[in-house]
Amino acid sequence: MIALSLAEAAKAVDGTLDAADPDALITGAVVTDNRKIEPGGLFVCVLGERVDGHDFAAKAVADGAVAVLATRPVGVPAILVDDVVVALGRLARAVVARAPQAALVGLTGSSGKTSTKDLIAQVLSVAGETVYATGNANNEIGHPLTALRITPTTRHLVMEMGARHKGDIEYLTGITPPTVGLVLNIGTAHVGEFGSKEGIAEAKGEMVEALSADGVAVLNADDPLVRAMSSRTKARVVLFGESSDAHIRATDVRLDATGRPQFTLSTPAGSAPVQLRLYGEHHVSNALAAAAVAVELGMPVDRVAEALGEAGALSRWRMEVVDRADGLTVVNDAYNANPESMRAALRALATMAGKGPERRRTWAVLGEMRELGEDSFDEHDAIGRLAVRLDITKLVAVGGREAARMELGARNEGSWGEESVLVSDADAAIELLRSQVRPGDVVLVKASRSVGLEKVAEALLADGAAK
Ligand SMILES: Nc1ncnc2c1ncn2[C@@H]1O[C@H](COP(=O)(O)OP(=O)(O)OP(=O)(O)O)[C@@H](O)[C@H]1O
Ligand SMILES: [Mg+2]
Repeated sequence: MIALSLAEAAKAVDGTLDAADPDALITGAVVTDNRKIEPGGLFVCVLGERVDGHDFAAKAVADGAVAVLATRPVGVPAILVDDVVVALGRLARAVVARAPQAALVGLTGSSGKTSTKDLIAQVLSVAGETVYATGNANNEIGHPLTALRITPTTRHLVMEMGARHKGDIEYLTGITPPTVGLVLNIGTAHVGEFGSKEGIAEAKGEMVEALSADGVAVLNADDPLVRAMSSRTKARVVLFGESSDAHIRATDVRLDATGRPQFTLSTPAGSAPVQLRLYGEHHVSNALAAAAVAVELGMPVDRVAEALGEAGALSRWRMEVVDRADGLTVVNDAYNANPESMRAALRALATMAGKGPERRRTWAVLGEMRELGEDSFDEHDAIGRLAVRLDITKLVAVGGREAARMELGARNEGSWGEESVLVSDADAAIELLRSQVRPGDVVLVKASRSVGLEKVAEALLADGAAK
């Protein structure tokens, strides 16, 4: 936090002070969760679905908050505003403006935002103090709360920005105007809301429209809808990808024996070998995006390559690999799924099997990929087929019609039923696995978020102590 007085804060949010000393300083964190109050902090009274933050105002001040941000007098020092969420955004904007030394990195895309944010943050942390969210705080509340953690010595602020509607990213970039704006990819997530992939691109492109002429737009050269955003920005464009005209490229991409990508990172400033600690080929694109940002912010290529190699998975359930004491390996990628990441996860699983007589048995416990629109059946069919082609020992398709289609794809591709089975839900999958897995097997668990398949991974891990 960069300290500011209650009077300055009230002015920044267009609010008025109630029962408050205008000269008192906000020196601690700005929070919406009353369990996270710090001395000198500001408590934001958000009206949630179940609780009204105003009910915790007095306790927040008793716990050390200097004041609260509220819509009505609550008997303790307060900054009063009409809308606390809007005010929170304005406060963050004002505080970020007091940290001109910090480069602001904004990133969006359909998938991989959190993974890439974590990569960028870990790489940039090598070069200087970097502020970023833990996990997925990418909406109109989490975003300003993260930005407010900026300090006078922060060198980089890395912000994931999600879009559920048109205008969302424009709003978030208004709070933290990016110097570097990155767009990862355009998939079909939330296609219902936007009507089409073009509609999604329209919304995500707000990221590069927010850049000024001295900013940098970092765009995925391999994704036509992202590449086309070049024409929507005043900023200089840097392309990343495997395309031959990309500025930041990956060549010689391969997976090592454990399913982790290796590649040569090529940039206009030189090349360096990269060995990722993350599993799955989809992270190559995420790593290139991170490299592009870091190189643009002045990091030497070899340091970027080294930092990428040291970066781990900071956010949970994204290709999280855990070995049980008995040698069973669980790969929990249950956070979400789309066709690209399903393919990447299956390929990583196939590599983890190893070769020869020591070959491990592999299980792909896969649930539905939601929000795929009219391509849904074909995409599920293709995943089932790929599982057989990659010689996965057994596909366990979990769920209803889509899962059935996936399993049918596997049957049609392989030996009718031996390599695949359909179960109705996570509990049935757990029961089946408990009776059939053996020490040394590798089990991948993956589906769209709302399917809740992490339960399967957790049950398997609970059955045996982690190594
Ligand atoms: N570059 C990529 N291309 C395709 N899929 C990816 C990519 N990176 C990650 N994924 C997949 O997307 C899932 C979610 O990853 P992540 O949380 O990083 O994305 P996100 O964009 O932050 O998601 P959300 O919209 O929920 O915030 C992962 O489990 C993985 O399956
Ligand atoms: Mg995310």
